[in-house]
This record gives sequence, structure tokens and C-alpha cells, in this order.
Amino acid sequence: MEPTLESVVEVRSYLAPGDERTLADDVLDGLTRPLKKLPPKHLYDARGSLLFEAICELPEYYRTRTERLILETYADDIVARTGAVELVELGSGSATKTRLLLDAMATAGTLRRYVPVDVSAATVHAVADRFCNEYPGLSVHGVVGDFERHLSHLPPAAGPRLVPCLGGTIGNFPPGSRRRFLRGLGNVLDPASHLLLGIDLVKDPRALEAAYDDSAGVTAQFNLNILHVLNRELGADFDVDAFEHVAFFDRRREWIEMRLRATEPQQVRVEALDLDVEFGAREELRTEISAKFTPESLHSDLAAAGLEPVELYTDPDELFAVSLARRAEPGDEPRGAYGGGALIGFTDRAGHWRLAQPRRRPG
Ligand code: SAH
Ligand code: TRP
Repeated sequence: MEPTLESVVEVRSYLAPGDERTLADDVLDGLTRPLKKLPPKHLYDARGSLLFEAICELPEYYRTRTERLILETYADDIVARTGAVELVELGSGSATKTRLLLDAMATAGTLRRYVPVDVSAATVHAVADRFCNEYPGLSVHGVVGDFERHLSHLPPAAGPRLVPCLGGTIGNFPPGSRRRFLRGLGNVLDPASHLLLGIDLVKDPRALEAAYDDSAGVTAQFNLNILHVLNRELGADFDVDAFEHVAFFDRRREWIEMRLRATEPQQVRVEALDLDVEFGAREELRTEISAKFTPESLHSDLAAAGLEPVELYTDPDELFAVSLARRAEPGDEPRGAYGGGALIGFTDRAGHWRLAQPRRRPG
């Protein structure tokens, strides 16, 4: 009889009951500030998640398909260089691009375990079940938790580990939290392990702004959806039609900022918080930032977090990049940025780090 390969699946949650209160707390805090803001995680209710999936298919929204192209091209190279036996995916979501890495590990014969980490319990369970069925013999250890707080609960490494954080999620942190998050990863990365970070690159502001304000208006619907969430969950009475979607590239800070602007003065009641909020004419509410990187700015963030770049993979149009990095060990030889690998860049005559054309997939 053929030996059968049993897959093992286990999902643990580290979200405390108090975590459910965060919507009310965030809204109370965010709407009573001098410059109003709402945290982006509340954009993703069931409707918001569907709208976001629609955004990922938009012609203007190059990010998802470009990151997929980069992984299709370089997954084998990434697996060969890291020798990874397990993936610990931070913010795994629906993990649509993860399969490219798992397939490359399966082909290399190293694949042993997949550890998806996400605050969304439903997606962790769905992905755990799906991959458990699709990869015979794979052990799946799902973690429902906050990757800023619960990484100490990860199982011990089963061998060289690859830690993907894809989709440009890192760009949604403000710069200080971004470095704190990266520094915290030092505990997850032993010296044999690597971080794999999807980052959106600085480019023509017109292309950037189009990606966040598409002609079909899907992004506007997505951004405005947060007001529907507040109306439903907190008994608020936002007139959603009295707000408009705003997205602009802040050139100095190198991030896209998403806002909702009140088209006329208005007062909003948030019943569950016993709160009345005034909006002046054209007053704006910030919902999300999406930072764009250059190789230099990425280097600074990595270095500040005790990490060092190993490789930077990009697409021919240099729209998006996937960075492979590892923990910098004290006493390491100072390495030239990106040692002997697939691409990557050069310092031009003005002393600026520039991307070179990507090398084709080996073989
Ligand atoms: N990696 C996926 C999803 C990116 S969307 C892709 O590339 O398609 C960002 C994901 O990060 C969402 O699934 C969201 O639930 C998750 N996320 C956001 N903040 C988080 C946090 N603090 N802890 C854990 N997961 C988080
Ligand atoms: N993380 C996504 C990004 O930075 C989220 C996103 C896309 C988004 N479009 C948006 C968030 C519009 C708020 C509004 O690309």
C-alpha cells in the first residue's frame, strides 16, 4: 500500500476578549483629535474585503499583479538561497501569492511547515484548511493574533525559516511603528532565517495617485466603506454621500495618504459612544497611509532594525519590489549592499543608489 502523507493542522488564537473593543476605542480616540483619523483595519469588514479584492484586479492597481510576477520569477531563487523549510507569513490574508513560495519549496523538497499569522480569524482558518488539503504532508500551524504583539507565541523554528510579509503591508505603518515592527522581528529570525518583504516603490506621482483613485471609483467606495462600518457597528449616522474620497502623494514623506473629506459642514452622532462630532466644510479625516520606498530608504529602515539586505527583486518596470533580508550579526563583515545575487543596483554618479535591470530567472 502507498504510504499516505498526513497533513497536520492546528490554529491558535491569541486575541483577548478585550480586543473586540478596539473599534469603539479607536473611533472615540480618532474622531476627537484635532486632526481626525480612523485606523485602516476597520476598512475590512465583509463588504470592505470584497471591495479590496476588486481593487487588486483594477488596471491602475499594479501592486498585486506585479508582486505576483516578481514571485513567479524569483521564488525558486529565494528558496535556493534561504534553504527554507518553513514559511511564517505575517498578515497572510487570503495568501493568494503564498502558493508560489510553497510550490518552490515543495519542488526543492524542503517544504515542512506553514505558519500563517493574521488578526482575521476567518482568513487564518480558511488558509490553514486549504493548504493542508493541497499540500500532503504539510504541517500548518495557524496563529490568530496581532503581529505587533503576539510573535512570542510562534512555535520554535523547525529549521531555516522564511518570513514573508507581502502585499506592501509594511507601507501601511507610520515610519516609527514600521521600525519598531521590523526590530521586533529580530526575535522571529534566528541567524539561519530570512525576512521577505513586499514593498511598493517610489514612482511617478501620477501613476501612484491613479492606483489610489481609480476611474471606476472602486477605491472611493472602499475608503467610504469605513463610514458604513461605523454606522452599522456603532449606531453612527454618517451621511456617506456627504463625504468624498481623497488620495494624494506626499512627496516629502514619500507616502500616499488616503482621506475622507466632508463636502459640507455637518454634525454626526455616534450613538454607541454617546458622542457628537462636528465636521467643518472640507474637513478631512485620515484613513490610511501607504509608504513608497527607494532602495536607500529601505536600507535605512532595515539597518535601524538590526537587519541587513540580502537581495532586492523587482519587475522590469521597477514598480514594486520584494526584499530578502536577514538579521545583521555583530561582527559580520560589512557587506556591500546586495552581495552576489539576482539584481540589484548601483550607485550613480550623483551618489544615489539606483536599481539595475533585474536578471532573468536563472535557468
Ligand atoms: N499578504 C496578503 C494580505 C495583505 S493585506 C497579500 O499580499 O495579499 C494585509 C493583511 O494583514 C490583512 O489580512 C490584515 O488582516 C493583516 N493585518 C493587518 N494588521 C495586522 C496586525 N497588526 N497583525 C496581524 N495581521 C494584520
Ligand atoms: N494596503 C493597501 C495599499 O496600501 C490598502 C489600500 C489600497 C487602501 N487602496 C486603498 C486603503 C484605499 C485605503 C483606501 O495599497
